Amino acid sequence: MDLKPFAAVKVILAYCFFMVMANSAFGDVSYSFPEEMKRGSVIGNLAKDLGLNVNRLSARRARIDTEGNLKRYCDINANTGELTVAERIDREGLCKEKMSCLLNFYIVLENPLELHRIALQITDINDNSPVFPRNLIKLEITESAYKGSSYRINDAHDSDIGVNAVQAYSLQNNAYFILNVNSNNNEGKQINLVLDKELDRELEKEVSLILTAVDGGTPPNSGTVTIHVTVLDANDNAPVFSESVYEVNLSENSPIDTLVASVSATDADEGPNGEVTYEFSRVSDTARKFFSLDKTSGEIRLIGQVDFEEDAIYEMQIEAKDGYGLSSFSKVIVNILDVNDNNPMIYIKSLNSPVPENVVPGTEVGIINVQDRDSENNRQVHCSIQQNIPFKLVQSIKNYFSLVTTDALDREIIPDYNITITATDEGSPPLSSSKTIQLLIADVNDNPPVFEEQFYSAHVKENNKPGFSVCKVAATDPDWRQNGTVVYSLLSSDVNGMPVASLLSINGDTGVIHAVRSFDYEQFKSFRFLILARDNGSPPLSSNVTVSVFIMDENDNSPQILYPSLEGNSFMTEMVPKAAQSGSLVSKVIAVDADSGQNAWLSYHIVKATDPGLFTIGEHSGEIRLQKDVYESNNMKQNLIVSVKDNGEASLSATCSLYLLITDNLAEVPELKDMAYDESSSKLTFYLIIALVSVSTFFLTFIIIILAMKFCHRRKPRLLFDGAVAIPSAYLPPNYAEVDGMGTLRSIYNYDAYLTTGSQTSDFKFVTSYNDGTLPVDLTLKKTQSFVGELDGFDEVSNDSFQVRH
Ligand SMILES: *[C@@H]1O[C@H](CO)[C@@H](O)[C@H](O)[C@H]1NC(C)=O
Ligand SMILES: *[C@@H]1O[C@H](CO)[C@@H](O)[C@H](O)[C@H]1NC(C)=O
Ligand SMILES: *[C@@H]1O[C@H](CO)[C@@H](O)[C@H](O)[C@H]1NC(C)=O
Repeated sequence: MDLKPFAAVKVILAYCFFMVMANSAFGDVSYSFPEEMKRGSVIGNLAKDLGLNVNRLSARRARIDTEGNLKRYCDINANTGELTVAERIDREGLCKEKMSCLLNFYIVLENPLELHRIALQITDINDNSPVFPRNLIKLEITESAYKGSSYRINDAHDSDIGVNAVQAYSLQNNAYFILNVNSNNNEGKQINLVLDKELDRELEKEVSLILTAVDGGTPPNSGTVTIHVTVLDANDNAPVFSESVYEVNLSENSPIDTLVASVSATDADEGPNGEVTYEFSRVSDTARKFFSLDKTSGEIRLIGQVDFEEDAIYEMQIEAKDGYGLSSFSKVIVNILDVNDNNPMIYIKSLNSPVPENVVPGTEVGIINVQDRDSENNRQVHCSIQQNIPFKLVQSIKNYFSLVTTDALDREIIPDYNITITATDEGSPPLSSSKTIQLLIADVNDNPPVFEEQFYSAHVKENNKPGFSVCKVAATDPDWRQNGTVVYSLLSSDVNGMPVASLLSINGDTGVIHAVRSFDYEQFKSFRFLILARDNGSPPLSSNVTVSVFIMDENDNSPQILYPSLEGNSFMTEMVPKAAQSGSLVSKVIAVDADSGQNAWLSYHIVKATDPGLFTIGEHSGEIRLQKDVYESNNMKQNLIVSVKDNGEASLSATCSLYLLITDNLAEVPELKDMAYDESSSKLTFYLIIALVSVSTFFLTFIIIILAMKFCHRRKPRLLFDGAVAIPSAYLPPNYAEVDGMGTLRSIYNYDAYLTTGSQTSDFKFVTSYNDGTLPVDLTLKKTQSFVGELDGFDEVSNDSFQVRH
């Protein structure tokens, strides 16, 4: 047999094998590629053929996707864009006898979703040899057969296609038979053994021949069968089928034992020669699993569960044989009809989970592919997700859907979504399936810490211990982990010129604020500062809150006696005219208390007096009045010890001593004449005395003038002076500020200082200033005329100034 023409065809086709046909009409590409190539063999460059940017392939997660459960035979090299072989591709296994073996893939790219179809035409190589259905063919031929009689032989089958399929048959040289191959029949070749020389049973009872089938591959493969001819005595007719091809339709999932088809053949002979039996002569292994052929009745029944999706068509060759072994052939084609028996399948092709909460609406978060293995309407699939979530499905290409956001996401409100995807086909009844995916929302630091209160205030008793916890601030941040971890700190600022950090410290984790030192109400009564709460995100977010600290007073200050003032070693003396009547105002003790409220509510008591009962003191005014008229019997020198108490719990007190001289004339006090100025007195005291004497002298002059005027008007010399005790403002500490004309102190702060107010009924008063001093027992009065006299214009009143020393 000459194979040269086939080899030539093969060479031409070989050129086609590697020819790439890039079809750009639909953005698709198709390649033609031989089967059985090594893994990694390059099929073509997808990036080039589709015009994709090679550098962006991995970023866009380029990948090959297949339909259904088909193996992924190809892969894309993300670095080069080349399509390579990933699995062994066996054309015969994939496409059987189909002339065109097409594998469909998709290349899927994300961001944005892009899909291209890749059609891979698998071309055949000659990797299969022709195979006869049986190793041995038995023929029984009568010796009376004429020259030219022909006997059909089952043809050989080669799984390869085209030129690689069976191309030629050759028969071993012999005396009786030649081969007649008739190929105009489109159901394959008909091979007939034709008698070339009459048989003679007496000469040769049996003839053995070898038939060889050769395919057209390079090199060609071949298969052989032995034909065993037995020479018979009598004549016979072969059975004849009622149809040359039986074609039937069968629904998939039909029950077992369903009658698929019934074949019948008749034989003109009588007796055993006319008894026809049927058998499969050529049938695929899969068909043998599903169909049985009754030997005598010719009924083909279902013995397995046929599945349209596995195989939509089965072809079986059936042989009818009579008793003598003469046979004829027919073909049964069973078309399997689709039933909507496959639920749509949902494949999550990609899912960006977790997705940051700050993605803009319209962001693609996932790609979903739905497939249905049924055909026609049964595979038309609709896809949906539940309502009321900020997502929707957008059909992008064929059965691919993008899951996109429709609204802003907020992890602090909904941290995850369970999205149920439902796919329904259009079969009747329709089938559906669903899949739930959990989409997590990732945190972004988008919430600053928020304080639980708009402002905080704390009340702290003064004289607190350092480390005392003043108050606690708390802020919450709903963000996740470090984005929601709050750290507190003091915002540096000044309180009365001191950095706030020198007063307080804050625990960064707990928000507890501690005092660093002891507070003094008298130093400052309240202060404010800012606390910053910052989260640990990057960049961090922060907020601040004002904390006010109010310091509460404690009775930690004793009353301070302003008048009579206690300074240096001196004390003061008041003069009381002998004519003074009971009820006359003689003097006034003035005291202040640096505390506030009850702690500064002062009361005055005379604790000791030279003539008890002669003087009284207003409990709250501190005004000292004569209780009786003055008599000669009264001691000229009166000493009062006044105690001033505040009203705090555990009240504090101070005492002072007051010297009163009941006289109209200083000369009546003989002891005073001897008194001399003490040179050792300090210069400061000296100047103070000058100042005080000046004021006192001025005042006394004023009073004398008034008195003189009164004397002119009244018969009875009654000293009346409607006024109040005037306190020189120099006595008042700066905090206690002004003194008005009535001797009343007005304070800046409420209840800061309680002072005795001027009496409405003050009749008379002297205000004379003296240097202060402690009050020891052995006091002596010294007249200070010696230096007072030096002051111009004060000569007349200089006698009123005394310095008392011991
Ligand atoms: C989603 O489902 C998971 C478990 O399947 C559950 O833990 C989660 O709470 C669900 N989320 C929502 C928002 O229903
Ligand atoms: C915190 O937020 C940032 C963005 O602001 C984000 O990148 C980070 O992953 C978040 N951290 C956590 C623990 O979620
Ligand atoms: C405190 O917060 C306010 C707004 O709440 C802001 O305007 C101000 O700048 C903050 N102060 C500091 C010192 O950060």
